[in-house]
Amino acid sequence: MADGSPERDGASGERPIDGDGYVALIEAAALAPGAMRSLELAASRVLVCNVAGRFFAVEDRCSHANVALADGRLRGCILECPLHGGKFDVRDGSVKSPPPLRPLGTFDVRVREGRVEVRPLARG
Ligand code: FES
Repeated sequence: MADGSPERDGASGERPIDGDGYVALIEAAALAPGAMRSLELAASRVLVCNVAGRFFAVEDRCSHANVALADGRLRGCILECPLHGGKFDVRDGSVKSPPPLRPLGTFDVRVREGRVEVRPLARG
C-alpha cells in the first residue's frame, strides 16, 4: 500500500532458501514505494520496507517494548513505532528518536527476478 499502512502475510515461513542464504519473500511489484509488509521468515517476523524504490528489511519487533512495528508508520526511511513513537532508520536499524535505545536487527536484501529476497545478517 502506498500510504505506508501495514500489511501482513501469514505465510508459514516454509520458504525455499537458495545457495547463498537468500529467501524470496515477496514480489517487488507488490510493495509500492512508501509501503511495508510484515512477513514470516524462519519463525520470526521481518518487516520489508520500500523506501523510494529501494528495499530494506528489519525485525518486526520494537526494541523498546517488543511490539510489532508493522502497525507503525513509514515516512521516507524512518519507521515510527505505534506504541510510544520511537523512531528507527530502516536502512541500518539505528534509533533516531527515543524511547528505544537499541537498534533493530537488519537483514541483507536484494531484488532478483522481480522478487525481494532477504538473508539474515550475522550480528555481533
Ligand atoms: S514499544 Fe516501540 S517505542 Fe515503546
